[in-house]
Amino acid sequence: FAAGDPLITEIQDWNRYLGEGVDARPYGSPSQFEAHVVRKNVPWLTSDAVSSINFTPLHELDGIVTPSGLCFERHHGGIAEIDPAQHRLMINGMVEKPLVFTMADLKRFPRENKLYFLECAANSGMEWRGAQLNGCQYTHGMIHCVMYSGVPLRTILEEAGVKPEGKWLLAEGADASAMTRSIPLEKAMDDCMVAFGMNGEALRPEQGYPIRLVVPGWEGNMWVKWLRRLEIGDEPWHQREETSKYTDLLPNGKARRFTYVMDVKSVITNPSPQAPITHGKGPLVISGLAWSGNGRIKRVDVTTDGGRNWHTARIDGPSLPKALHRFYYEFEWDGSELFLQSRAIDEDGFVQPTKDELRSVRGTNSIYHNNGIQTWYVNKDGGIENVEIS
Ligand code: MTE
Ligand code: CO
Repeated sequence: FAAGDPLITEIQDWNRYLGEGVDARPYGSPSQFEAHVVRKNVPWLTSDAVSSINFTPLHELDGIVTPSGLCFERHHGGIAEIDPAQHRLMINGMVEKPLVFTMADLKRFPRENKLYFLECAANSGMEWRGAQLNGCQYTHGMIHCVMYSGVPLRTILEEAGVKPEGKWLLAEGADASAMTRSIPLEKAMDDCMVAFGMNGEALRPEQGYPIRLVVPGWEGNMWVKWLRRLEIGDEPWHQREETSKYTDLLPNGKARRFTYVMDVKSVITNPSPQAPITHGKGPLVISGLAWSGNGRIKRVDVTTDGGRNWHTARIDGPSLPKALHRFYYEFEWDGSELFLQSRAIDEDGFVQPTKDELRSVRGTNSIYHNNGIQTWYVNKDGGIENVEIS
């Protein structure tokens, strides 16, 4: 530090004058100096903001919980603004007792609290044909991880009584897109939830207030927001979002029927193109996120030389199934060029593939389910770019 630094020697305004009182901010917001930490859209991606996407600023966050106001948004028909007193959840189809629940009814069932990541199947979708977007916010920011509070879906289905021939569940949203997805009954009975809370508060309107479906580890499109109806049937419905959309077109022109699980994946969030190294050589903290729809992350490896040498990263914070994991790798940067990559391995033994390995199987027709290893090129000045090496 500089001797005589006025920030040390002089009394500052915030030290001299009283601040605002406790009534000034009844529902708090971040500091005015954090105004740059926001979700961002890529305007050329979609023709209209009503059916579009914005991205979580992953490079500005730490730990594993995404603040509610920074969770990326994906709407197909804009944000539905629903008065919970006017909202109903209906169960029909192959059930003993078709039922309609009010919000008050739902809050009388036993609840659970679970931290899960939600990743859109299209996350990293723009990177299939080569490095394109400069920043992990855009390459990997269709993900968030929050604590959900709600009722196990199983509890609600048991209340209605699923008939023996019932094998599939259709979930439908109350928004203008009336999003619908088919979910196998085994998954619905396993770990799905009807959530009304996130991070201790009510769901945000952007995330499906007053209720959304939580489908842990599976593609975000199935997590129907503004949930209004559950139908039980004996086969999948083959709705738009599970046929012409959210299916993977293979090199031979055939599409995979359903791809539910979000495979093991990771990304270095700092440093990264939107968060270059500004402190020069010396101690450098590399930090990132890893996740798997199969369960926990077992190990994360980091390389600074494009994969010649790998180092085991340090996972810090809770290691919960189907939730984000935070990793760190600290080292002394000598100021030379770096090719940074991370590679995650999950508890089932799945290893995150290189982009070339992925393309050798899946081709480049796909948009969805790109879990390839990301490379950041760091130049001698600490500036960073999205690149690929093969
Ligand atoms: N549910 C409804 N009703 N309408 C939608 O447009 N979008 C889906 C899913 N559920 C959507 C929806 C998609 S594609 C994703 S990735 C997730 O919600 C996004 O959830 P989020 O906006 O909370 O991030
Ligand atoms: Co999506």
